[in-house]
Amino acid sequence: MTSSEIRESFLQFFKQKGHTIVPSSPVIPYNDPTLLFTNAGMNQFKDVFLGTGTRPYTRAVDTQKCIRVSGKHNDLEEVGRDTYHHTFFEMLGNWSFGDYYKKEAIAWAWELLTEVWKLPKHRLWATVYKEDDEAEELWKSITDIDHSHILRFGEKENFWEMGETGPCGPCSEIHIDRTPTASATASMVNAGSPDLIEIWNLVFIQFNRDESGALTPLPAKHVDTGMGFERICAVLQNKTSNYETDVFSPLINAICDLTHHSYAGTLPSPKPTRQEEIDVAIRVIADHIRTLTFAIGDGALPTNEGRGYVLRRILRRAARFGRTLNMHEAFIYKLVPTLVETMGSLFPEIRTYQDHIQKVIKGEEEAFNATLDRGLERFEEIARKSIANNQRTIAGEEVFRLYDTYGFPVDLTALLAQEKGLTLDMAGFDSLMELQRSRSRESSKASVSMAKKLFSLGSRSLPPTIFVGYTELECEATVIDQFDTFVVLDRTPFYAESGGQVGDTGVLYTQEGPFNVQDTQKDADVFGHNVIEPLPNLVGQKVRAVVHKDRRLSIMRNHSATHLLHNALRTILGPHVQQAGSHVAPDYLRFDFTHYSKVTEDELEAIETLVNQKIAENIPRTPGLNNIPFEEAKKLGALMFFGDKYGDLVNVIQFGNFSIEFCGGTHVQSTGEIKYFKIISEGSIASGIRRIEAVTNSHALEALKLQDRTINDRIDSLTYEITQLRSIIDELDSEKQDCYKKELHLIAENLATLRSLPPVPNVASNELSSHFALRKATVNKLITFAERISELRKQIEKERTQARLQSKTLLIETLIQNARTINGHRIATGIVPAESLDELKALGDTLRTKLQSGVGVLATILDGKVQLVCVVTDDLLSSNRAHAGAIVSAIAKLINGGGGGKPHLATAGGKDTTKLNEALAAVDSIVRTALQS
Ligand code: ALA
Repeated sequence: MTSSEIRESFLQFFKQKGHTIVPSSPVIPYNDPTLLFTNAGMNQFKDVFLGTGTRPYTRAVDTQKCIRVSGKHNDLEEVGRDTYHHTFFEMLGNWSFGDYYKKEAIAWAWELLTEVWKLPKHRLWATVYKEDDEAEELWKSITDIDHSHILRFGEKENFWEMGETGPCGPCSEIHIDRTPTASATASMVNAGSPDLIEIWNLVFIQFNRDESGALTPLPAKHVDTGMGFERICAVLQNKTSNYETDVFSPLINAICDLTHHSYAGTLPSPKPTRQEEIDVAIRVIADHIRTLTFAIGDGALPTNEGRGYVLRRILRRAARFGRTLNMHEAFIYKLVPTLVETMGSLFPEIRTYQDHIQKVIKGEEEAFNATLDRGLERFEEIARKSIANNQRTIAGEEVFRLYDTYGFPVDLTALLAQEKGLTLDMAGFDSLMELQRSRSRESSKASVSMAKKLFSLGSRSLPPTIFVGYTELECEATVIDQFDTFVVLDRTPFYAESGGQVGDTGVLYTQEGPFNVQDTQKDADVFGHNVIEPLPNLVGQKVRAVVHKDRRLSIMRNHSATHLLHNALRTILGPHVQQAGSHVAPDYLRFDFTHYSKVTEDELEAIETLVNQKIAENIPRTPGLNNIPFEEAKKLGALMFFGDKYGDLVNVIQFGNFSIEFCGGTHVQSTGEIKYFKIISEGSIASGIRRIEAVTNSHALEALKLQDRTINDRIDSLTYEITQLRSIIDELDSEKQDCYKKELHLIAENLATLRSLPPVPNVASNELSSHFALRKATVNKLITFAERISELRKQIEKERTQARLQSKTLLIETLIQNARTINGHRIATGIVPAESLDELKALGDTLRTKLQSGVGVLATILDGKVQLVCVVTDDLLSSNRAHAGAIVSAIAKLINGGGGGKPHLATAGGKDTTKLNEALAAVDSIVRTALQS
């Protein structure tokens, strides 16, 4: 039998026994904080077992996608080292919800295994819970199993629990003897032997375990069974390893092709050979690619926390085993098409999201590869040192550093250490981790305490609040409890924060006066109205609860717009777009979604246009979709999101055939009420997750007004720049002045016309599109003008510098023409315009070069003081006849100052500007004296 035939025969067998075939739920559980990943077929029926949900059938059968990598059921370490543990696997299961019980469960399991699949009876073993006489009796009376093959075990083996809490009960397992001659003994059962493995678990669910660990009997008794699909395939296909069945062989072949290795199916010995290492690596990668593909296909992403971190670890574990196969470039993502080929028809989500899945894996692989080599080097160094120092344990600090800096999951470090016969100082590592965690807890605590107050029932037991807010915005109600700042009513029109939609505000009118509600929240299904004023005792009183209508209507518009946006994103960007989070407030909406690149301007425009088109079509919301059965909703094709709460009865929000979503939020009656939709920002918030913020209706008008203010401010500042430039132009020669003036004048005129934007309309409608388009065009023009102005500024400043230099050179030449001659040496003096001492010195240098032979003294007034520079040409220096420092300080004395410097150039300052001319006149005699001495 092929694996598809095996799967099908299981489903059909139970269908014939009156079971409804149901689809697998996603591997990412909805709204169950106790689970990171779906770990058993029964997860999707947890509410039925607990008595809080119902289904339209009492018998079900399916194959469920499961991931077991954390928490109670965790097989990660085993994976790859043996032939039958997996991180991802399919669980075949049949269920009874308060219908049949132990007898039928056991009888049918036996019938399928021995009559349909014809497994040899003498190879089968059954275990029962140590106190379950009934189950043992049934095995004996209704099957023909060898009685010595029925064994009793305790809690660990035969009491099944979903997690720390949740439905549970005694179970009966079926194991199969895989020894060549059917020679297994009782001691091999549950002993971790690959020759005697569990294939099917029949759980008799009858308790719920709560947080305190206590067991309470459930309202009804149920059957929950789980059979490892890959294992049964190996058994029925007569393979000793799951990896040799047709479930895995296409993947194994693809890995061998990609890495140019061959798979020999060996198991690792204590000192593994190269082939054994290769075989482990191939199995690890074949296993992990399935987990990665299905998890990402169901909306998860590798990140730094929670579920995302588990996924990241799995990817890194696979990448590191890729090194064993000499793979240094990203390659794991190339296995996705093979998986899609073999499993995509049964689980179409991986086909739909194939491209997205590959991109995410490739990106992660590349990022990790970049640090992996450095980390491995670092590890080798640490290991070398430890071994040299005869230390068999790697310090916690090092383990933490590998984790924190090089992204090495601890299990990866442990794996590397194990290969070298080293262990890790886990206590040291844990305390550093705890330190880091408490630091981040502190910072998140701080942000929570700044945020709103949380409503928590604690140990109070109150009936669920009746919510009338889908249709009413006010109602009469009775206060049934109050505590802290919260009031609890029997019924309310106030929407409590959930599904991304913020809580309502409003007023509770009571005999004691009005009380303002600043927020509404819920715990379980009890609504808490957070009141601003101090509360007198209101319990028992009748109140009139009134929601702030305008605010709520804005929220409804934004919530419906969020749904339209979601579908527009899927239409324009592709079906890989999945909601990753949302925030629906009165003044704006925020939508986070999976997408691996920036959304381009054109795409944003297309998205916005599509949403506005749907608003213009004024599509009515389909009535009658409140409290409909989950299955019916799914048939409508409603989109499901993570984090939403799905009970037995659900709400569906449908706008024509454009948007159908599961949603408990409040919405407009028809899309036209949204009036207008405008995206105001788009960006990335995490790898592979984008965020769009948008506004609707009057808030779009506000956005438009804000744009107008920004545009006018920009025009003001550009106009001011033009004025500044004009004053600089005055220094240029007149021909150039005219040319620049003309262009600046033209720009100024153009800027002025940009001010006259059409007035913002009073009401939002599709007409706003042309307004936004015009503003966008204006902004683009402003950008062009700003660029041109900045070019002009650079050009003009450059020319001004040149012009100034030219005029100063001219000035120096004039000074030289007017120089006096003493003994054939020139003496040039004069007052020059200079903006700084540096410029004065530069002018002095120019003078010195042009002077040929002699002494020059330049003066300028800077900040109300005289600045002097004196220069002496080289010929006078070599004969040692004049020293610029001596000359300048002699001159400075005359203006009440002092100075000095090098023989060829020296500077001085003086306070008495009135004596400047006199001092310059004295230069001749000072120099003459110097030359004669
Ligand atoms: N829920 C049971 C298991 O996972 C069947 O083993």
